[in-house]
Amino acid sequence: MSDEVDVGREPIRFAYWVPNVSGGLVVSRIEQRTDWSYDYNRRLAVLAENSGFDYALSQVRYTASYGAAYQHESTSFSLALLLATERLKVIAAIHPGLWHPGVLAKFIATADQISGGRAAVNVVSGWFKDEFTKLGEAWLEHDERYRRSEEFIRYLREIWTDDHAEFRGDFYRLHDFDLKPKPVTALDRPHPEIFQGGNSTAARAMAGRMSDWYFSNGRDLDGVSEQIAEVNAEAARHGGRRVRFGLNGFLIARDTEAEAREVLREIIAKADREAVEGFGSAVKQAGRSTSDGKGMWQDSEFADLVQYNDGFRTGLVGTPEQIAERIVAYRRRGVDLILLGFLHYLEDVEYFGRRILPLVRELEADAAERGELVRRAS
Ligand SMILES: Cc1cc2nc3c(=O)[nH]c(=O)nc-3n(C[C@H](O)[C@H](O)[C@H](O)COP(=O)(O)O)c2cc1C
Repeated sequence: MSDEVDVGREPIRFAYWVPNVSGGLVVSRIEQRTDWSYDYNRRLAVLAENSGFDYALSQVRYTASYGAAYQHESTSFSLALLLATERLKVIAAIHPGLWHPGVLAKFIATADQISGGRAAVNVVSGWFKDEFTKLGEAWLEHDERYRRSEEFIRYLREIWTDDHAEFRGDFYRLHDFDLKPKPVTALDRPHPEIFQGGNSTAARAMAGRMSDWYFSNGRDLDGVSEQIAEVNAEAARHGGRRVRFGLNGFLIARDTEAEAREVLREIIAKADREAVEGFGSAVKQAGRSTSDGKGMWQDSEFADLVQYNDGFRTGLVGTPEQIAERIVAYRRRGVDLILLGFLHYLEDVEYFGRRILPLVRELEADAAERGELVRRAS
């Protein structure tokens, strides 16, 4: 597949990680003025939608790990954020191993009705064995987790759009299930959007076949192109589906590059070494069971893991101008959405909206004037 899209017609979108677990987005003892409470998050969501963010992503975590000692549940927290906002779309992360697709489809359909069509899900296949064993659930091997997720997404889609959903799968069963009410539909939105986390070969294949959106951990430009090409090749083999691409990045913007780099240095210097190492060994163990060892985090080093989704590797550290240039460079590689994490959310989101986003839009307008195209595949 090699379709190309006009840079000006489809501007890059922005999402932020909802800080719904304690400890912030970096595993570090550096001061973080981010709070995981609902009050803080309600203010943040309103600020974010007024600062140009289209999406917020709630994390799912059931038990402490890498220092996230307290965790608010993702679907209920997401619904609360939808109620607090007017335009923001809120994506709730969910584990197929812990939900029945019909029950989740029902929950999201209700949230979607209440919010006027702004609910979405992020299907995460799981890396944290303890979470499953503590809940008394079986921990499947890596590629089986993806086989289950794929079945889950197929059923979700079917339940949201069909009046007689019927399935006998390896993981779930449905008999003439008619969900009423269905979620809100629009021409370009047949059902709530389905995102996925996971970057292994199994994850890429699932994205090509099933998901609306593929989320990547932090990566440099070539690391992103490689994933986009592979996901798109799989999508081309499955009816030329369009899969959109979201990239994680931890953003540190200051008026000078030296100040921004100093913040990054301090985050890493003050890392909670024990928590980072514990997290690193848990995720590497989880990924090692992939057939080819290509799971997320397999090549992550200590400094990368301090932001637990490799967010520093995206290189969004510097002045507003440098960061805007870098974001548009990713857009040229086919990235549709940047998922951002911050140190001091309320301050940093405001700064992003005021200082960085206008520069991004200017660069996009220049590119559009030159008739520049985004390449979707090599
Ligand atoms: C953007 C993004 C968000 C994620 N959010 C969560 C989450 O909230 N909870 C969770 O347990 N895993 C989350 N994951 C992890 C994935 O579900 C998956 O376990 C991990 O990516 C390893 O997959 P892989 O071995 O296929 O690469 C997320 C992954 C990405 C890329």
